[in-house]
Amino acid sequence: MPSKKGNTSHKEVKKVTTHVLQEMKRSGEKIAMLTAYDYTMAKIIDHSGIDVILVGDSASNVMAGHETTLPITLDQMIYHASSVIRAIDRALVVVDLPFGSYQGNSKEALNTAIKIMKESGAHAVKLEGGREIKESVERILSAGIPVMGHLGLTPQSIYKFGTYTVRAQEAEEAKLLMADAKLLQDSGCFAIVLEKIPAALAEKVAKQLTIPVIGIGAGGGCDGQVLVTHDMLGMTKEFSPRFLRRYLNLYDSMSGAFKKYIKDVKSRDFPNKKEQY
Ligand code: KIV
Repeated sequence: MPSKKGNTSHKEVKKVTTHVLQEMKRSGEKIAMLTAYDYTMAKIIDHSGIDVILVGDSASNVMAGHETTLPITLDQMIYHASSVIRAIDRALVVVDLPFGSYQGNSKEALNTAIKIMKESGAHAVKLEGGREIKESVERILSAGIPVMGHLGLTPQSIYKFGTYTVRAQEAEEAKLLMADAKLLQDSGCFAIVLEKIPAALAEKVAKQLTIPVIGIGAGGGCDGQVLVTHDMLGMTKEFSPRFLRRYLNLYDSMSGAFKKYIKDVKSRDFPNKKEQY
């Protein structure tokens, strides 16, 4: 495996582990992460060579149509996670602990993490928060479960913040975030997601930490990037933040196909002679 910064690839790695991600950080290879919630999408993403698949609680928005990530349940997360796990050969699969399943105390957090790992076959879990989840992170890790942190905009706390705007723009909040990032690293997290914070701050965090920092709306100085798959495919039209790059306009392509199918059925063009028994 070459190790010169900027000229490396772990493409040949058969299974991405937390150790591989650590190697990627060290060698300067960027980490690519996307969300998935179902078997078919996960299979396409995994076979395209993604490093990490996140079964995010954004399933609450994307799959179930809720306004926030708060309503999704632990059993629903496990359903999505086990569908994803059945599809993947290579990617590391990380699953979000849903709102209300870990904030009570560290024992509750551990039980939730164990249930996810046992019932879905996932490889790691992700929790939102900093110092307030330190004890939970350490307890989950003591059971041998890898933990990814999540700082900056933490959507499970949306009613505390009141908006989805950029976080940590003020010096005081930026200082707190930096301290929390270090604390999560020291507690044993294998990586941290930074969501919607200034690029300069995210770059500073990535430089100071030895674990990978994955950004979403946090600029190019992070060690990797994550996007919600349905957003980057252009399946969701209403969500259009500045950080989102759309690689397809799947909403219009799919809608065009559906309209054509409806027309073909109505006009009796489908099925034709070759399409029946
Ligand atoms: O749930 C999710 O999709 C996430 C990403 C936005 C990082 O947490």
